[in-house]
Amino acid sequence: TGYVTLDPSFMNTAACYSQITFVDGERGILRYRGIPIEELVRKTMFVEVAYLLVHGELPSEEQRRNFSTMLNLNSMLHEDMRHFFDHFPRGAHPMHILSTMINALAAFYPNVDLKSMEDDIDVSTARLISIVRTMAAFAYKKSIGEPVVYPRHDLSYCANFLNMMFDSPVRPYQIHPEAVRILNILFILHADHEQNCSTTAVRAIGSAQVNLYATISAGISALSGPLHGGANQAVIEMLQMIHADGDVKKFIRLAKDRNNPFRLMGFGHRVYKTYDPRAAIIKKECDAYLERIHYKDPLLDVAREVEEAALTDPYFVERNLYPNVDFYTGILYRALGIPENMFTVMFALARLPGWVAHWKEMIGGETKIVRPRQIYIGKTPAETAGVMESREL
Ligand code: CMC
Repeated sequence: TGYVTLDPSFMNTAACYSQITFVDGERGILRYRGIPIEELVRKTMFVEVAYLLVHGELPSEEQRRNFSTMLNLNSMLHEDMRHFFDHFPRGAHPMHILSTMINALAAFYPNVDLKSMEDDIDVSTARLISIVRTMAAFAYKKSIGEPVVYPRHDLSYCANFLNMMFDSPVRPYQIHPEAVRILNILFILHADHEQNCSTTAVRAIGSAQVNLYATISAGISALSGPLHGGANQAVIEMLQMIHADGDVKKFIRLAKDRNNPFRLMGFGHRVYKTYDPRAAIIKKECDAYLERIHYKDPLLDVAREVEEAALTDPYFVERNLYPNVDFYTGILYRALGIPENMFTVMFALARLPGWVAHWKEMIGGETKIVRPRQIYIGKTPAETAGVMESREL
């Protein structure tokens, strides 16, 4: 009853109160649980940030150790699930594999009903964060036809992931602390971003009291879209296209042309109307890391040129379109040796703590099942009069 207000795509509607993440889109500020991201990337590891998001505070030394132990204990994938990987077609996108596999977790670990989750949120969170990393690395190994590498207890979260991705019996992987540091930074910066599309999916689907794995799988599906997490892969594809063509200005023109669907991927944001603070950090790290490891990526030059051309063009200036988190991320992933079709999977791994934190906040609150209203604009009975009369019984 009463009035229904129309707000397509929820441009102006707050759907909840939240204590997790603060974004100021005008000033370019992002804080997790009150702590600026700039501080977090300097002084914490991803696992601590995951704990911060889910529990509300940074862990003490003992809490961190316990959480790491739980991540280790829960890092193995049920052996029977390994066979699943054999039946995806070669070339299947790892994001599709990941969302399917996460859904299947509910069958292998059925104790994820709401009640047991509330009792044991630590274990379920640790299992998800840890096991999804194992799945992601297995999916990659499968895609290149190499044997999987199991997680190791002696490695940190990010080092473990890199090792599972790149170690092989014939080519032992050397873990570089600098690569681990960069991955930590990327994961921290992607760990949460309040009510974005995938988090909204998680909250909406979770509100029906769906089990956590199915809920997270919905988040992953939402994230895979090119307007959301899929943008990091789309950016690299775009930069490759511009590099091959050589004419940056042409693509700037295309992006401005309303009759052309081409957009500058990695540019623009629903909330940020200034430089995305995550992109600012990633750009700086990208420049420094590539220089330090003497890695010359022509796409970095293309990206810089595109950014400069866009930021001096009235179209982008008037619309406040700046590079977002995805613009330089892919270049760093390439430098780490991560293939393009894994970029969005990396985003999903990093966003897991955020999704879990929002899910936990949602089920712990007063939330009712999400059920938006609509404004009906279809046919009236007057317009359909006679349609049924002509039908035989
Ligand atoms: N290239 C060219 N024009 C753009 C772009 C772009 N990347 N982004 C927005 N615009 C224009 C748009 O055409 C519109 O122009 P006009 O006012 O003349 O109609 C105006 O700017 C406002 O754009 P919008 O589409 O109404 O804005 P939105 O808030 O609905 O969309 C967005 C936000 C991120 C989906 C959009 O900027 C976009 O498609 N960007 C490219 C994809 C991308 O980089 N996505 C990653 C987002 S950040 C990470 C994440 O969410 O996962």
